[in-house]
Amino acid sequence: MGFFSKDIKTMDDLFLHTLQDIYYAENKIEKALPDMIDKATAPELKAGFEQHLGETTSQIARLDQVFEKLGLEAEGVQCPAIDGILEEADEVAGEVDDDRVLDAALIAAAQAVEHYEISRYGTLIAWARELSHSDVADLLEETLEEEKATDTKLTELAEGSVNASASS
Ligand SMILES: [Fe+2]
Ligand SMILES: [Fe+2]
Repeated sequence: MGFFSKDIKTMDDLFLHTLQDIYYAENKIEKALPDMIDKATAPELKAGFEQHLGETTSQIARLDQVFEKLGLEAEGVQCPAIDGILEEADEVAGEVDDDRVLDAALIAAAQAVEHYEISRYGTLIAWARELSHSDVADLLEETLEEEKATDTKLTELAEGSVNASASS
């Protein structure tokens, strides 16, 4: 789907495009998380990433359900935004020597991912409601709550211990 060929004509097309974007993003995140689990040192951070990997897998299954409810094939469309966020995370992590500083960098990267997801799901839920897909909106709402909870947990970890130990 290219913007120059003007494949997005209606609000339904735009909704579908954005759904495919987050489907691609969730799949990329699922592939990136094992590496972040490996790199994390603080046990609570490792455990938090592990939990979110499980959630991400079920979020992908939830998106499969969304496509099914809409009578559409589940497929992704390349999302340069998430590619960029993950690429930058990898680059920065590769430059950090100290394990505790690396934990702070991993949290910062993970929060950039969560904020991207929160933004996308917020938009999708509003559009789904507008397009009278309230059952789809309810499913997406469940995922949004998980993304927000993950973001809050990451803030608590950073401000509770990781930033201080990285700075000492
Ligand atoms: Fe997600
Ligand atoms: Fe997430």
